[in-house]
Amino acid sequence: MSELVLPNDTNLLGNLMGGRLMYWMDIAGALVASRHANKVVATVSMDNLSFTHPIRMGEMLIIHAKMIYAGTTSMVISLKIYAENMKTNSKILTNTARMVYVALDENARPTPVPPLIPETEEEKEEYLKEKERREKRKKKQQQHC
Ligand SMILES: CC(C)(COP(=O)(O)OP(=O)(O)OC[C@H]1O[C@@H](n2cnc3c(N)ncnc32)[C@H](O)[C@@H]1OP(=O)(O)O)[C@@H](O)C(=O)NCCC(=O)NCCS
Repeated sequence: MSELVLPNDTNLLGNLMGGRLMYWMDIAGALVASRHANKVVATVSMDNLSFTHPIRMGEMLIIHAKMIYAGTTSMVISLKIYAENMKTNSKILTNTARMVYVALDENARPTPVPPLIPETEEEKEEYLKEKERREKRKKKQQQHC
């Protein structure tokens, strides 16, 4: 997904507002998840997001969103955000994040999604890492109960 950063997207310094970036990330991730599930999806979580590089007005924002894991009803989408300066052709990776979406049925309850079959070595590695992360999160949740 690409967006041109316009004045209405920026703060008083002329940089893209964090909230606007998160909005676009959420849409990009939801499109990937909905296409996989063929269902309406809800955003369940986003992991730590740091803003380490300002994205300037007039730059092009490019969001790469890729599904890396499917559980029973949830899907994990990895996002990479790039800022491209169209005058200099420079392209910088500005943010990364993982977002989790859940597919919903007609009653807005979680509903199963098709499995994800990782193909390349990198995809298999990402899939396993995500599986471990998820197991750790579930263990932590159980400890707090
Ligand atoms: C999405 C929602 C329906 C899930 O309901 P729930 O009762 O929590 O459902 P479950 O506990 O069965 O969890 C569903 C899945 O989400 C996963 N999940 C739940 N909380 C999670 C979290 N914090 N991080 C990652 N995954 C999470 C579960 O592991 C489960 O995955 P699985 O089916 O692949 O094993 C409910 O939490 C909700 O309505 N949330 C609000 C969503 C929203 O308004 N989003 C913003 C606008 S889209």
